[in-house]
Amino acid sequence: MIDVHFGDNLEVLAGFPDESFDLIYIDPPFNTGKTQARTQIKTVRDEAGDRTGFKGQRYQTVRIGSKAFADTFTDFMAFLEPRIEHAHRLLKPNGSFFFHIDFREVHYSKVLIDSIFGRDSFMNELIWAYDYGARATRRWSPKHDNILWYAKDPENYTFRFEDIDRIPYMAPGLVGPEKAERGKTPTDTWWHTIVSPNGKEKTGYPTQKPLGILNRIVAVHSHPGDRVLDFFAGSGTIGEAAARQRRQAVLVDSNPEAVAVMKRRFSGFQDVHFHGCESIEPAVNPAAKVSSGSLDLFGF
Ligand SMILES: C[S@@+](CC[C@H](N)C(=O)[O-])C[C@H]1O[C@@H](n2cnc3c(N)ncnc32)[C@H](O)[C@@H]1O
Repeated sequence: MIDVHFGDNLEVLAGFPDESFDLIYIDPPFNTGKTQARTQIKTVRDEAGDRTGFKGQRYQTVRIGSKAFADTFTDFMAFLEPRIEHAHRLLKPNGSFFFHIDFREVHYSKVLIDSIFGRDSFMNELIWAYDYGARATRRWSPKHDNILWYAKDPENYTFRFEDIDRIPYMAPGLVGPEKAERGKTPTDTWWHTIVSPNGKEKTGYPTQKPLGILNRIVAVHSHPGDRVLDFFAGSGTIGEAAARQRRQAVLVDSNPEAVAVMKRRFSGFQDVHFHGCESIEPAVNPAAKVSSGSLDLFGF
């Protein structure tokens, strides 16, 4: 079963009961391209100044700097905090929280999430490494995302080791044919291609994550029948991973284009319910470009 809710996740989450999900994965929008350069000014007394103030005195405006980065950072953390508090409230006692982010924001995010879940609940930083696109020539090319895993109770959580998909050994000749045939379990660095721009997995949603990454999280960190939540759902990748593995999915997004893509993506699935978005038509062509500008939802 898949439930899709259209709306701001802060409002939608407030309506869900405590401890009602086994697994929560989120991939919030970060670094949406627009920086909010807020110029800091102060005024000083100056007879030739450009402003008139108290008792008609003249003041000059002086620019003392710009706080673009700090403002962006503060806004993003302030945006995340109440949503991550909901994630903690909504997880069952043995539930897990996965937070997908990039290398610029991961450190600040970890400090924030530690303060909500507790440092002991931090289990792993997964590195999703890919190798696609142009190379930087003045620094190492950044080609990875970071996924932080928190277990609400670090002594009691779901980890289905036997369901981990196996990968080939780098030097199969060193381990013997039987082991080489079976493969090995991945470490905390997961090599996986991005969603191919021409492949059939592509939905047209600009920030779509690969099904392979989310399949692994769902398979190992939830049981069949469990409830999985993604409240920054985008194209609904985790909904597809969950439904194909017989988990229930609840998805939330505030962008009508995301809902349109999910309506098309889940059209062949059974037991899919859309809430608050009856008038949104399914996206027509998966290859159609969805404008990334529509993702600028909180003003960066
Ligand atoms: C990076 S995308 C998620 C992509 C997704 N993991 C996938 O595989 O397609 C982030 C999503 O968060 C949504 N979003 C941003 N702010 C939101 C809010 N306040 N409430 C609900 N959704 C929001 C955006 O519309 C966007 O679809």
